[in-house]
Amino acid sequence: MYYSDDIIEEVRIKNDIIDVISGYVRLQKKGSSYFGLCPFHNEKSPSFSVSRQKQMYYCFGCGAGGNVFTFLMEYENFSFQEAVKFLADRAGIALPEEEYSKEARQRADLKATLLEINKLAAKYYYAQLRQPQGTAGLKYLKDRQLGDDMLRDFGLGYSNKYSDDLYKYLKGKGYKDDLLVKAGLISYDERQGVYDKFWNRVMFPIMDVNNRVIGFGGRVLGDAKPKYLNSPETAVFDKSRNLYGLNRARRTKKTYFLLCEGYMDVIALHQAGFDNAVASLGTSLTAGHAALIQRYVREVYLTYDSDDAGTRAALRALPILREAGVSAKIIRMEPYKDPDEFIKNQGAQAFEDRIKKARNGFLYSLEVLQRDYDMSSPEGKTDFMKEAARRLAEFTEEIERNNYIEAVAKEYRVGYEELRKLVVRMAVQAGMATPVQRPKSGQNREREREDGIRKSQKILLTWLIEDEKLFRQISEYIVPEDFSDGLYRTVAKLLYKQYEEHEVNPAKIMNHFTDEEQHREVASLFHTKIRELSTPKEREKALKETIIRVKNYSIERAGESWDSADIEGMQRLMKAKSDLQNLQKLHISVN
Ligand code: GTP
Ligand code: MN
Repeated sequence: MYYSDDIIEEVRIKNDIIDVISGYVRLQKKGSSYFGLCPFHNEKSPSFSVSRQKQMYYCFGCGAGGNVFTFLMEYENFSFQEAVKFLADRAGIALPEEEYSKEARQRADLKATLLEINKLAAKYYYAQLRQPQGTAGLKYLKDRQLGDDMLRDFGLGYSNKYSDDLYKYLKGKGYKDDLLVKAGLISYDERQGVYDKFWNRVMFPIMDVNNRVIGFGGRVLGDAKPKYLNSPETAVFDKSRNLYGLNRARRTKKTYFLLCEGYMDVIALHQAGFDNAVASLGTSLTAGHAALIQRYVREVYLTYDSDDAGTRAALRALPILREAGVSAKIIRMEPYKDPDEFIKNQGAQAFEDRIKKARNGFLYSLEVLQRDYDMSSPEGKTDFMKEAARRLAEFTEEIERNNYIEAVAKEYRVGYEELRKLVVRMAVQAGMATPVQRPKSGQNREREREDGIRKSQKILLTWLIEDEKLFRQISEYIVPEDFSDGLYRTVAKLLYKQYEEHEVNPAKIMNHFTDEEQHREVASLFHTKIRELSTPKEREKALKETIIRVKNYSIERAGESWDSADIEGMQRLMKAKSDLQNLQKLHISVN
């Protein structure tokens, strides 16, 4: 259902954000804003702010932010449409009846359709598990000691023995073959025709943070291969940006996540009361996962399999998490293979003890390294210490590096000063003392430049939003089209229009975006405080440089796509270039 902008705005206006959020969070007035403990991450002092004037909220701790719709999408796991419905109801506004046919909707939005199909499939599998034909699946899960509540909460299901059961069912609902293939549930080849991807497997629906089913993992009931089949990547399923169990773990009151490898591990941990367990989806941990984790917690306990492959995977995950600002510890499960087995044999309390005894990630990596050296011989130990020093040299933060040098010195019984000198020597040898620029491929350089430009555009937007006086000056040179296509340009267009109409209204701009990720990004635009960053003179210089950078890039882009028959276009381009010249001399007053 698509509601008109007018209706959405009416719903928003009639639901004051302070009133709505007060129903969930205890807020206290401080200056022009209200503050409370952020419901989206664990904290002891309030960094969650709500502004009546802007009708927006923003958490300075975790970056959650948006308008009243976003809040409900995040807190209640509503879709945008559901949030609109809920608030319309709350304010007694009647929404128009559905006015699109099923077919029209299908055309309208591939993603929405794929989500719809996945949801139907999940319900279908779920029902099958509880039918006579699902007995074997149910028995399998029961034998693995999963309780009814877990089967329900994780939506577990079963795909039948027939190879086209789901296909027939979804066909009956009116979905075309190509959509079913796009949803990743159906395969096609010339010999067999169309058939279900999953059959005779217990099914684990994979949900995103909003509890929407985006894909599946399917496990064989016995020892056959492949043990697991997973949905292919689709328009709604990106394995490197989703974590199994995150829809539940995001609500944990703990300040860290337990990161494991398997679906069964996540469920076993939740069943044992560890509501903070997540797993990557049968792939190794990516920077995308780490960034996602970082939105909720700053610490992760890795509970990877205790075999070689699991150890290697844990070691690979450490620097990725570090890079994202997440510190990591390693939980040992010996003599068991994975958390699921550990808990089955030792119980939750014993696992809790292992959490307490978790090993610092870096020290753990040295421990693994040590296995390759003969530590009983002086040469062996020396070589090991050199390698350890080389790794210690990679900590760029001095305090952190020294702390680790201290810990390693203690652990391996060598002098702190000696080890510190060795680290410096290794750093010099490796050329780390003078940071070396790794040669970059042309493509990387271009991507980095684009990232840089996007940053400049973002800063410029926050400037435009913050101050009408600045807007008047900047808008002489910068038009919405100077921003890259997409979210920033849309925000710029809406903002320019609002300034024209003398009514700047951030929460209304937010209405134009319907997904949580976009809300988050737009909200952060409205809450960056530039004023506090530096002196007026420095700000002036930074602003000017930013304007020039954004304009320059925009002109360049226009020049690339310029059609030589377009005389007017060329004139515009020339004018833009000469404006840019003038800009270099420009004086902007920031105060
Ligand atoms: P159980 O044997 O049921 O306890 O599974 P597990 O979760 O302990 O599995 P394991 O540790 O072997 O693998 C961890 C994760 O890797 C699984 O949850 C899957 O996501 C993925 N995985 C395992 N085996 C396969 C496979 O054969 N194919 C694919 N694509 N993924 C697999
Ligand atoms: Mn297992």
